[in-house]
This record gives sequence, structure tokens and C-alpha cells, in this order.
Amino acid sequence: MLNAIRRLHTARQSLPKTIKAILNEKVPAETTVSINGWIRSVRSQKNVSFANVNDGSNLKGIQAILNSDQAKSLTTGASVKLTGQLVPSPGQEQQHELKVDQVEVLGESDSTYPLQKKRHTMEYLREIGHLRSRGNTGAAVLRLRNSAVLGFQRFFEQADCANVHTPIITSHDCEGGGEVFKVLPASTYTTQPSSTAMAPSEFFKKPVYLTVSGQLHAEILASSMGRVYTLGPVFRAEESQTSRHLAEFWMMEAELAFIDRLDQLLDFTEECLVSATKYVLDNSKEDLEFFNRWTDKSLLERLNKTVTKPFARMTYTEAIEVLQQAHDAGKVKFEFPVTWGSSLQSEHERYLATQHCQHPVFVTNYPAHLKPFYMRADNVQDSSKQTVGCFDLLIPSIGELIGGSMREERYDILHQKMIDSEMDVEEYKWYLDLRRYGSVPHGGYGLGLERYMLWITGLESVRDVVPMPRHVGSCRY
Ligand code: 4AD
Ligand code: MG
Repeated sequence: MLNAIRRLHTARQSLPKTIKAILNEKVPAETTVSINGWIRSVRSQKNVSFANVNDGSNLKGIQAILNSDQAKSLTTGASVKLTGQLVPSPGQEQQHELKVDQVEVLGESDSTYPLQKKRHTMEYLREIGHLRSRGNTGAAVLRLRNSAVLGFQRFFEQADCANVHTPIITSHDCEGGGEVFKVLPASTYTTQPSSTAMAPSEFFKKPVYLTVSGQLHAEILASSMGRVYTLGPVFRAEESQTSRHLAEFWMMEAELAFIDRLDQLLDFTEECLVSATKYVLDNSKEDLEFFNRWTDKSLLERLNKTVTKPFARMTYTEAIEVLQQAHDAGKVKFEFPVTWGSSLQSEHERYLATQHCQHPVFVTNYPAHLKPFYMRADNVQDSSKQTVGCFDLLIPSIGELIGGSMREERYDILHQKMIDSEMDVEEYKWYLDLRRYGSVPHGGYGLGLERYMLWITGLESVRDVVPMPRHVGSCRY
């Protein structure tokens, strides 16, 4: 056992050190170290040259000092191993720099390298997606995404939620929106593709799709594990070309058994978001400052406000009143009319979060007919105004970040709702079983990771915060 532990320890030690690790370690001056990375820029003066080398582990990389002979072999984009001494830097930009003894070019690059040392537009960077994370913005996004996921994971661990893995292929359309991608073996030949009809050679002997949400499966697991969360890719065949929609995106979903009030769910959701954001603020200062400087000058102020000021809360009915009043007072002109019972359009959501609250706002208890079958019916006097125990969390500039609800745990009510929604009740028998055997009040939510990334970077399009974006008409790499 001890030997095995020792072997693992030395295996990690035998890897080359990252630039971040080297700079963080308090190595004695003049120690010889080797760094591996890609050349970002080379600047030559008469007797000395400076190269900026970056390996993705931090924002600034390291400055290497070379003589002009050594610098000759270095070009922007080339991968290198540089060995030399770490010495205190006289410059303002960095504390230490590398005085190079030995240069090894691992992979050359030439003047056609598309990422030269200048500011490129986000549109241009999308065109070279395979090289995008070699630049500051692309890499900072990925480090922040990593930091955000760690922040969420840490929150869930502290809240006793188990990380579970729900399936990608499923026969269900959880949200009932019909925006599913159908899955078939490439060899299947269907003359008339249809979402419901079974092709003769269908692999699973029934139509199956890529999941739009892991929620229904998470409910199975919450019915035994109590509290669970899952983070995985989900897929929606949405034709929208907006800066908020992808065909493949990552959703973080939590499901909590034994909660019986919507406000418990709101409190938990808020704490989850605040906790992850605090984690990012504490652990990714350098990258946040980068975005605060170059992308959105209000970023840090906004994130600090997110973690200190409680989120606003209002019911759908109150939201409708706010929107109608704003419209009547001439404060805003909406393209879509605002009436009780109609869905909130992005312009309405944006007004509520960006202008009215200027802060994240939970809008709760939407009319039942606007929401999926699984949401728990509220007790209402007037059945024409039936609402459900649900919420959308709207955030300024972006709109909906999280959708969640209490789930209908009462067998008869759920069964009737499925019949009324013309669902295939037989197909969802297992879902009803969860209400037949030891049903518990429960609720949960799903957060779109890419939209959260917009919130913590200030970037404007979800296409810039996922490494290889997939949206209608585009699936590169
Ligand atoms: O509101 P949605 O559709 O909720 C669900 O799927 C629930 N079953 C989740 C749950 O309760 N476990 O999606 C959740 C979030 C949205 O609030 C939004 O942030 C994001 O997923 N989202 C998208 N993000 C990028 N591209 C799209 N096409 C998205 N559609 C939804
Ligand atoms: Mg939603």
C-alpha cells in the first residue's frame, strides 16, 4: 500500500512542472528549472530578447530572457522547452522571469500562425476555434469554466448532494417541447424519418433521443439518494440563432428530496449560485481582472454584488403587473403584449432583471399551461388561474439562467395531468411508480453552464464560452 502511494506520488512529480506551479513555488533564486509552453511573442533588442511563453496554466505565462542567438529559432506559436534560472524580474509586469540557458523547439510554427500578438475580434477567434484557447480570452474562459465547476461541486459536496450521472440517450422528452434530436445507427435507412414512428431496424426497438435534461432520471436517483446533482451535456434542436442558445450545452441539475416549500428551493438555488461565484472570485482573480479590464468594466462590481445582496423575488402575477405598469407609464415599449397567461418574452425578462431589479430575480408560480407536466400544482381558488410551484431565475442582460420547480409528487394529480397532456402514460409508468412507492415531496433546478459563463466573463455570446460550439447550421470539429 505504502509503495503504491509512493509510486503515485513520484509519478506526478516526474511530470514537467507547469508555469503556474513554478511561479507559485518559492524556489530559491538561481534554481535551474525547465518550462514547456507555446511562444506568444518574441521581442528583440540589440543584445537581449524577450519571449513570452504560456502553457495555459495561468494568464500571463512567463517572460523568458534570451540572447539573440537563442531567440533566432523562436517564432510566435512554436512549442518550446526552455531551461534556465528563475530570477527576480526588474520589470513591473512580473515578479520572476526565466534567464534561459537552453532552448529546445518542440514544434515549429511559421508566419501564417493565425494568432499574432494583437487584439482579435471574437468573430475572428470563432473562425479559428482549434487555436482559440491559445490566446488570452480563450484560455481565460476555460480556466474560469473549470473554476466555476469546482465551485459548484464544492457547494454540492458541502450540502451532502451526491454527484450522479444521468443518461444521454433516452426515450423521453423531459421538457415536452419536441426539440429533441433523434438517435439512430448511421446504417439505419428510413424513407420517412419521423420522430415517433419506429424505423424497421431501430437499434433500441423504439425511438430514442439525445436528452434535453437529466431531470427525470435525477428524480429516480433523488428517490433513493435524497440529494443529487448531475452536470452533463444536453441537446436541443432549437433553430434559434441567438447569443443565448446552443444545440449542445451543459446543464447542472440538482434534485432534492424531502423539501416541501418553493422558498426552500429558492434559498438553496441562491446559495448554490452565490457559493460558486464566491469560489470563482476567491480562486480566479487574475482571469476575472482580465475580463473586467478588457470585456466588461462592471464585471467585478457585479459579481461582488451578486454574492452580497439577496436576489429579488416576485411571482409571475406580480411580474405581469410590473411590466404592465412600466408599459402604461411609457417607461418601455414592448413588442409583445403583456397579459396574464402569456409567456414572458426575452424583452420582458430583460426589463425585469436589467432595468426593474438590476439584480438577479426569481420569478415564481407561472401559469400551469406555460410549464411542463411535472411541475407541482399550487392550491388556487380560481382554477382558470392555475399556477405551479416553479421559478425562473432571470439575470441582467442575459435573461433566464436557471429553471426549476417543485415536482408533482401526488400520484393521482400527476396521472391526470399526464392524461390531459396526451402523454404516453405507459412509457412514463416508472415515473408514476416513484409516486406509487414511497413518494416524497421534492424539487430541483437546472442551470445552463454557458449562460453562467456569460455572467462571470461579461462575454456576449454562448458561442465564445464553450470550446466547440454547436448551433443550427454549424458543427465544426
Ligand atoms: O429551463 P430549462 O429548459 O429547464 C429544464 O430543462 C429543467 N428540466 C431543469 C431542471 O429542473 N432540472 O433549462 C434549464 C436552463 C435554462 O434556464 C438555461 O439557462 C439553459 O438551461 N438553456 C440553454 N442554454 C443554452 N442553450 C440552450 N438552447 C438552452 N436552453 C436552456
Ligand atoms: Mg426554462
